[in-house]
Amino acid sequence: MKIFKIVVGVAVFLLFVECQNRGVTKMKITKQPFGQTEDDVPVDLFTLVNETGMEAKITNYGAIVVSLKVKDRKGDYGDVVLGYDSLKQYIDNNPYFGAIVGRYGNRIDKGKFTLDGVEYILATNDGENHLHGGIKGFDKVVWDAEPINGKEPALKLSYLSKDGEEGYPGNLNVTVTYTLTNGNALEIDYKATTDKPTVLNLTNHSYFNLAGAGEGDILDHVLWINADKTTTVVKGLIPTGELKSVTNTPFDFRKPTCIGERINADDKQLELGPGYDCNWVLNDWDGSLKLAVTLLEQKSGRFMEVLTTEPGMQFYSGNFLDGTIKGKKGKIYSYRSAVVLEADHFPDSPNHADFPSVILRPGETYTQKTIYRFSVK
Ligand code: GLA
Repeated sequence: MKIFKIVVGVAVFLLFVECQNRGVTKMKITKQPFGQTEDDVPVDLFTLVNETGMEAKITNYGAIVVSLKVKDRKGDYGDVVLGYDSLKQYIDNNPYFGAIVGRYGNRIDKGKFTLDGVEYILATNDGENHLHGGIKGFDKVVWDAEPINGKEPALKLSYLSKDGEEGYPGNLNVTVTYTLTNGNALEIDYKATTDKPTVLNLTNHSYFNLAGAGEGDILDHVLWINADKTTTVVKGLIPTGELKSVTNTPFDFRKPTCIGERINADDKQLELGPGYDCNWVLNDWDGSLKLAVTLLEQKSGRFMEVLTTEPGMQFYSGNFLDGTIKGKKGKIYSYRSAVVLEADHFPDSPNHADFPSVILRPGETYTQKTIYRFSVK
């Protein structure tokens, strides 16, 4: 009897130790070298794991989400974002895979805007327009990294964008904190301050494929967008200023609809993409966190919800992917094989006084919260 009690006692103790270990090893952030830039600046790769086993790998080069491993209906993990295995590939040719885009996500007409009576001329890198922060945007710089090993692993990334960088005024201090929550969400908190009036529009440019990166196109993904309107664009994808109703157009995703169902429809706006590459005007925007988008991949059952404090959502269907990019594990990223959901302000807002303002002044703090939350259906 005594021996039996000892055996049970030891077993209970071992079980306790095992649970403790699991708790510790499952929620953590670790760091490994990821190489160095052409100027010999060392770059790291951080691995965040939550208590359910979901994993995110993030590098401080471009604040890029390199991989995101999410369970499917059967409990099998799949990496749902496009990207590369090495830093060199990101440096050589990255169409913004996973990156933080700034100072200005999307386009500014002819790279010019006027603020407080002063005209600013920005770097142009998309024909005659400015796109995603210019020639060397926030996606191509090395950020300072501070891992946070709390109840939920987080990575705080900071960058000082100097006065005049890519033509923008003001020294801008930016922090982006990625948190991998125990509710299986990747949360992104943005903050910025400036010492001169400037314009700012930050976003994350992850390319999602919920079947797994490199596992075919996204035409069967089912998308819902909480938006009654889009911003009409002209050639070059520059807004005219008009907000157009989605009713009776291929841009109406107010009922969950397969992306492929109308992607080749006869529609002038769609032809400019060509395919989806447009800003949706989210309904009832008031700066609070709201559900904006859901995305379902029917075979795996993976379901993603996007919540944001932002007024707009640029949905880009990977129309520029042409099969020439070989991504992680040598997989080919074919035409329309990803969904990019950029929560931010409307394109070219600095030139449209009636769009929600993107101006940041000294003494103010820019904030944004966007959440990509995963479950299965
Ligand atoms: C955004 C733009 C697209 C394209 C991609 C990156 O979604 O709107 O036109 O630039 O980024 O290739």
